[in-house]
Amino acid sequence: MRGVIALTGATGFIGNAIARKLVQEGWCVRAFIRSPLSSARLADTTVQWVQGTFEDVDSLERLVGDADVVIHCAGAVRGITGTDFYQANVEAVARLAHMAASRNPSPRFLLISSLAAREPDLSPYAASKRMGEIALSKVADRLTWAALRPPAVYGPGDREMLPLFRLMLRGIAPVVGREDARFSMLYVDDLADAVVKWLISDSRENRAFELDDGHPGGYSWCEIVETVERLRGKGVLRVRVPGPVLNLAAKLNTMAASVIGYRPMFTPGKLRELRHPDWVCDNSMFCRVANWAPTVRLEEGLRHTLGLSASPAIGTRA
Ligand SMILES: NC(=O)c1ccc[n+]([C@@H]2O[C@H](COP(=O)([O-])OP(=O)(O)OC[C@H]3O[C@@H](n4cnc5c(N)ncnc54)[C@H](OP(=O)(O)O)[C@@H]3O)[C@@H](O)[C@H]2O)c1
Repeated sequence: MRGVIALTGATGFIGNAIARKLVQEGWCVRAFIRSPLSSARLADTTVQWVQGTFEDVDSLERLVGDADVVIHCAGAVRGITGTDFYQANVEAVARLAHMAASRNPSPRFLLISSLAAREPDLSPYAASKRMGEIALSKVADRLTWAALRPPAVYGPGDREMLPLFRLMLRGIAPVVGREDARFSMLYVDDLADAVVKWLISDSRENRAFELDDGHPGGYSWCEIVETVERLRGKGVLRVRVPGPVLNLAAKLNTMAASVIGYRPMFTPGKLRELRHPDWVCDNSMFCRVANWAPTVRLEEGLRHTLGLSASPAIGTRA
């Protein structure tokens, strides 16, 4: 056994991939779970589950315990105001980091932040991810830490981008961002591998690292659509959605969410993120420090994500 990892967010898309990779690599995973309804997860004995909430200090103490490393991957990714994001993305980071720093010896701390933290003025989500990094850096003198800033992460189990990729596979690609916008992508298993590489690297560089799939200069929407066209073996119709329509849809969705009481993903803040022209990562620093290299290129990653066979032209099977 390599050591004990205290992990939050293991019930989510990315955290689940990280937990699986850690177990596979011989780490003992102690994972945080908030919902008592997740009994199917609790029955999974490959990890030890600690049930609690981020306000319940006792449950956080049980989670951190004697762990060698704390990984905070939990995060609020949907919401309207800063309050919706603050608890999981800022307060929980500060609480866990202080708890870790008070241990002797203190565990290393890895925060799954986001590339959005680079542009905190764009949205309450982006601001909260930056504030989470700042909260962590405040205990920098008492803790070895790193924050990973992934761009858009995709893979099997993703709920956010999969509907869009499926629609493209059926032949329709809504174009919502600027035509000249460029953005990086990262396949979820490569992110999990990056976490493991950081763990075994023994890196002591307390800082935020960008990481992506290594595609130079990132992608344009056009390149994503062309990749899906190769996978389906025929063309995809690009449908440019006019700006005012998107603005209205984001506002209506936010109003509906406020009335009905759910946390929306598509908001004016998310729209500003989508319209931002430059979400291109530079992963060179992280590759050097952690001796990591991404292995999954977009076409292969999309094939896995969409559950397609390896044949070049597969038609529409989503
Ligand atoms: N997906 C991306 O493209 C992407 C890109 C960059 C960074 N990130 C970051 O990666 C992390 C994971 O994202 P994801 O895509 O895996 O999201 P996800 O599937 O929605 O998972 C979020 C996880 O956080 C937990 N969580 C959220 N709020 C919580 C709270 N108040 N108390 C306890 N647990 C809470 C969820 O628990 P429940 O299961 O109980 O809801 C779940 O385990 C986030 O920090 C996000 O900012 C994601």
